[in-house]
Amino acid sequence: MAEEVATQNKSILKSPALLEYIYETYCYPREHEQLKELREATIKKYKLRSIMGVPVDEGQFMSIFLKVMNAKKTIEIGVFTGYSLLTTALALPRDAKITAIDPNREAYEIGLPFIQKAGVDHKINFIESGASSALDDLINNEKEVGSFDFAFIDANKDEYKQYHEQLVKLIKIGGVIAYDNTLWFGTVALSDEEELIMKDDFVKANRKITREVNTFLANDNRFEISLISIGDGLTICRRLY
Ligand SMILES: C[S@@+](CC[C@H](N)C(=O)[O-])C[C@H]1O[C@@H](n2cnc3c(N)ncnc32)[C@H](O)[C@@H]1O
Repeated sequence: MAEEVATQNKSILKSPALLEYIYETYCYPREHEQLKELREATIKKYKLRSIMGVPVDEGQFMSIFLKVMNAKKTIEIGVFTGYSLLTTALALPRDAKITAIDPNREAYEIGLPFIQKAGVDHKINFIESGASSALDDLINNEKEVGSFDFAFIDANKDEYKQYHEQLVKLIKIGGVIAYDNTLWFGTVALSDEEELIMKDDFVKANRKITREVNTFLANDNRFEISLISIGDGLTICRRLY
């Protein structure tokens, strides 16, 4: 079981036994039934690629965070089958609105039956599109500018800096933008020598991009920032002005 936990997640915690302990003690017993079913359907359909979904401990954290900040209007970039989306929809109040953006409707439709069964699909406006143009459309609507409480970004890292500048216009002062995977399997801390022997070009390319994004975010004085070592690293940026 410990090995299974290790291969089915991308947690920054590198001890499979410790992860299993956390999942078994705190996460799985309290995971919403539809989240569990969505997670299992994602593993069945996407096998190893299912690790793209946010892990259960991160989902639990997001849920509490959204409730504590009393979020009502959010954006999600990078939906996949919807684990983080369903987590968000369950955490937000009945009259909440989530704008969920992803060019891949097929993956979203794998998770949609579970979202419907949970009775929260009315909160979601799914936009089948790349995020950049969808965010521009929102910015061009005066009513949307500065109106969002929270944004969760879990998509193509090479456009994170662009999304950030667009999201600054959409998030209200005091609102939060959260970027996922900012520790990128822990590779952001590898030395140049260690990077040379890395075999996976995708992981390598995203290591470089993630390091650039981290430096960019860390130097943005418009935001108060905290990097949470949960899942694959989650950087929380609270807009100051
Ligand atoms: C890591 S997965 C998201 C996982 C999701 N948050 C979850 O918990 O299941 C990344 C997603 O980003 C989407 N994506 C890729 N390029 C995108 C873009 N330009 N705009 C928006 N989403 C994009 C992919 O289709 C994929 O579904």
